[in-house]
Amino acid sequence: MKNTKVIISKDGVSDYSGDLLICLTTINKDDKLSGADFIQPEIDSFQKKEEFSGKKGEGVVLYPPFNTNGTRIMGKRVLLLGTGKIDDIDSTNELRELFRSSGGIIADFCRKTSAENPCIVLHKSGDIKLQLAAEYLTEGVLLGDYSFKKYKINDDDKKQYPGIKKLLITAPGQISALKKNCRRAVNSAFSTVTARDMANEPGNGWTPDHFARHAEIIAKNHKLKCRIIEKSEMITLGMGGILAVNQGSVEPPKLVILEYRPKKKSDTILMIGKGLTFDSGGVSLKPAAGMMDMKYDMCGGAAVISAMETIAREKPDVGVVAMIPSTDNMSGADALKPGDIITHYGGITSEIENTDAEGRLILADAMAYGIEQYKPTCVIDLATLTGAVIIALGHHRTGILGTNDYLVKSLTRAGSICGEPLWRLPLGEEYSKQIDSEVADIKNTGGKPGGTITAAAYLQKFAGDVPWAHLDIAGTAWDFTKKTYIPKGPSGTGVRTLIELVRRWKNGQIKK
Ligand code: BES
Ligand code: MN
Ligand code: ZN
Repeated sequence: MKNTKVIISKDGVSDYSGDLLICLTTINKDDKLSGADFIQPEIDSFQKKEEFSGKKGEGVVLYPPFNTNGTRIMGKRVLLLGTGKIDDIDSTNELRELFRSSGGIIADFCRKTSAENPCIVLHKSGDIKLQLAAEYLTEGVLLGDYSFKKYKINDDDKKQYPGIKKLLITAPGQISALKKNCRRAVNSAFSTVTARDMANEPGNGWTPDHFARHAEIIAKNHKLKCRIIEKSEMITLGMGGILAVNQGSVEPPKLVILEYRPKKKSDTILMIGKGLTFDSGGVSLKPAAGMMDMKYDMCGGAAVISAMETIAREKPDVGVVAMIPSTDNMSGADALKPGDIITHYGGITSEIENTDAEGRLILADAMAYGIEQYKPTCVIDLATLTGAVIIALGHHRTGILGTNDYLVKSLTRAGSICGEPLWRLPLGEEYSKQIDSEVADIKNTGGKPGGTITAAAYLQKFAGDVPWAHLDIAGTAWDFTKKTYIPKGPSGTGVRTLIELVRRWKNGQIKK
């Protein structure tokens, strides 16, 4: 993975001789274009001209060298990038998204012009909050600059443009505060692109063992506790769900656990991510068209393990335990069959109606075990669990279901801050009835109606009375709504929502 350097400075722009200087241009209250003082004469030359109106996302390129307001501008290009009327925006989340998406536009422009050392100039304008601008521009640039070219050995682009090496941000003041904000952005972007990297790996490039090895590296680097539950121990413990899904596979399953504990006594958040490294459907085989996308069925696990790295770096005052149950879902000779009955960790039995409803089977064991072992304050799981959530919400929102309003609201709020919108779906007795079985305690499908809800109803049985929320990211983990800072392919959704939730966590608030 590329490690872009981000540097905040108060230096004047006359020292800058890099490849791209970006000057944000806002439209102020009396419809005038405004930017940093030194470039204002140039901006003024565009007032009321058609080629640049300063609207959000609109840009114009100037070519140095030139003198403006007594400053000598060097470097290769200057991009005046419009943000529209910032002073009219009173929603902080809308501002965050404006800067994030502007960051994405900047990254794209860098790619097109092969700029490796861009410099963004921030200026004071009305109420514009420099800290917000610095944090979310940085996040947007780093998220937008992402590409996955590992397997493109002879790719010309790869040789030509390595991406952004150094991002410079200059601002008129508050440097130490800005540095702190940019550090947060660097962390959350780093975790997000790490999750994208894992997801981009094909089924033969990212196996359960890769999750385990990666967790061990994080644990070593950040002094976390790491535990890998191997197949033999799963057998001893009676984890019938994950073992059942793994039956048709030659890759051994892993249950990966990472533990972060703060110094003081605190709440414990248990985060569980579905780490299904390839979902063929098993004996209930999926159709060939689109099956390839099922290499992304580990995006929940990738989100959880990647978020954990930022958590380990930032050391919040809440404990976090991450669990990733991981296997692929194949149809080998020993594979699970429709009609089979399995016993989950803790004893609940389940009739398998469809081997393609496997996510809930591996998550159920992890939830039951995690709750017993770590006695968490709450449980959050992330999973590419149902195609039905795409029918319900499209690719624009993650579905959230849960038993605790405070937890669901906190997650929804965190999601809106990050530009990862969540939408709540209901739970209830009527839905739970759909997974009643004639022969076992429950069955693993509830029919077509309310498919996302009946999948959650399955998990609900394993949450017991522990406050729990479930994020169905099947619609948003890839093919997410087009955004400038989310390239085609896996989005890394959920990573930043989890990080934001943890950053804002207040111990003792959640009630059963
Ligand atoms: N991993 C899939 C869900 C999925 C489907 C994610 C499409 C992203 C895009 C999951 O394991 C699955 O196969 N679910 C089944 C459940 C059904 C058999 C009850 C589904 O949604 O069809
Ligand atoms: Mn499946
Ligand atoms: Zn699946």
